[in-house]
Amino acid sequence: MKVLDAEFVQGFIRMANDGWEQGWHERNGGNLTYRIKDEEVESIKENFNPGEWQPIGTTVSNLAGEYFLTTGSGKYFRNVILDPEDSLGIAEIDEKGENYRVVWGFVNGGRPTSEFPSHLMNHEVKKLATGGKYRVIYHAHTTNIIALTFVLPLSDEVFTRELWEMATECPVVFPSGIGVVPWMVPGGRDIAVETSKLMKKYDLAIWAHHGMFAAGEDFDLTFGLMHTAEKSAEILVKVLSMNPHKLQTITPDDFRHLAKDFNVNLPEEFLYEKKTL
Ligand code: 13P
Ligand code: ZN
Repeated sequence: MKVLDAEFVQGFIRMANDGWEQGWHERNGGNLTYRIKDEEVESIKENFNPGEWQPIGTTVSNLAGEYFLTTGSGKYFRNVILDPEDSLGIAEIDEKGENYRVVWGFVNGGRPTSEFPSHLMNHEVKKLATGGKYRVIYHAHTTNIIALTFVLPLSDEVFTRELWEMATECPVVFPSGIGVVPWMVPGGRDIAVETSKLMKKYDLAIWAHHGMFAAGEDFDLTFGLMHTAEKSAEILVKVLSMNPHKLQTITPDDFRHLAKDFNVNLPEEFLYEKKTL
């Protein structure tokens, strides 16, 4: 089968374009990776043409031998749908989890996203934590989440609670909450380590003054997670712009009732009493 005919490649392209249409991917902002299933690799591997091994910049031993579909560093999400073979590539991880090589794509030159270390370390955490179910890691420059990182304290408790309060579906969509990484230099191992620590606990991690990472089983769930958190942030930005003091909101006890009826576990650390709404 041709690579572009594979269903997972089409799903990946659609998700990248959906992100572009949301306005989360100015210029080359954001990146997306998918851990390809064995049977999907088998169905397209006749098209592979391996390049040279390159260092990943970190070690991901539990991803040894895996293949990833990834957006390219410096490539624009806007162009993915028009020329996927230029914007996207497939990278194979070596037997030690220390190097990768491009086996398909980037036809006009290129390499995986500069956030490949963060993506791979998050994939490794999620693969281990979910018995291999999670396959998608998505980084987007979500405008309203970024705006909030200038005015809210950079704590998991505050971001989780404030975003949960803005839309009733939020605690059901991300019951484990959302983590926050303070501002750090992007693109390297240090920010990857901090993000992957948070991914042990959450499916969403905010990078202060930069954007957000989401992890999930498939394209729908991962895009939906990013979309839900960013929409909630948009409502909070509107609320704070109208009046910094809410007149009413969803209370800790409301959340406890919701948790019972929707059969989700909402950690008490996020249901603290506040002095003002
Ligand atoms: P890349 O073009 O290397 O994917 O970088 C974009 C980005 O968002 C960095 O955080
Ligand atoms: Zn970024």
